[in-house]
Amino acid sequence: MSSPAKRFDIFTLFPEVFGPYLDASIMKRACQNGLLEVQLHNIRDWTSDKHHVTDDLPYGGGGGMVMKPEPIFTALESVLGAPPVCPVILMTPQGRLFTHQVAEELSLFPRLALLCGRYEGVDERVRQHLVTDEISIGDYVLSGGELPALAVVDAVTRLIPGALGNPDGPWDDSHATGLLEYPHYTRPPEFRGWAVPEILLSGDHARIARWRREQSLLRTWLRRPDLLEKADLSAADRKFLANLELSE
Ligand code: ADE
Repeated sequence: MSSPAKRFDIFTLFPEVFGPYLDASIMKRACQNGLLEVQLHNIRDWTSDKHHVTDDLPYGGGGGMVMKPEPIFTALESVLGAPPVCPVILMTPQGRLFTHQVAEELSLFPRLALLCGRYEGVDERVRQHLVTDEISIGDYVLSGGELPALAVVDAVTRLIPGALGNPDGPWDDSHATGLLEYPHYTRPPEFRGWAVPEILLSGDHARIARWRREQSLLRTWLRRPDLLEKADLSAADRKFLANLELSE
């Protein structure tokens, strides 16, 4: 069989939390279609002591536990070689913020290793001598890197050509264009007295495209004006935004 478009090796103490998510919807189909391969590795399997210990007290005292370096190095080097054949990304609230741009950057690599931290974090020598990148999914602290790793797998998988059923691909999604996406409607045309905007029923594709673009601009202006600074805007877009500013 040919190699998949994208392979993730996930190193975790809790491999069991990944199954249901990867076994549903787009992730499942991408795996079945040979576009995505996710290998889960339990760090505990690479301990060498009787009790399979993966964490220990922090030097210098203080609360919490720290993930030991030996099982992490052994696990990653056994699976990925030394030095590792692909980027090794530590999921941590101290990492760079995960955005659509970062997902696009990661989508260029055929293989990625994601290391899920737990407890107070990993021994600093893992960061310094094994990890090549650190990613945070937001300014809050979760109980571990497993949910963040799933967020990365999901967002990057959506960028694999053919992974979405939609032939247009992910390019209209919020953030992919640099703007928030326009509102969506489906049947019925009227629900509890709330009608679908008439233009969407008009069949006039050029007008619909312009309406959607303006809705995207309006939403972004209202909710995330910071995004407008970097968005790729046409002269018509700028005029529309200037009118919004005037109407304030
Ligand atoms: N681990 C715990 N919290 C995290 C976050 N916000 N992002 C990435 N990894 C984490």
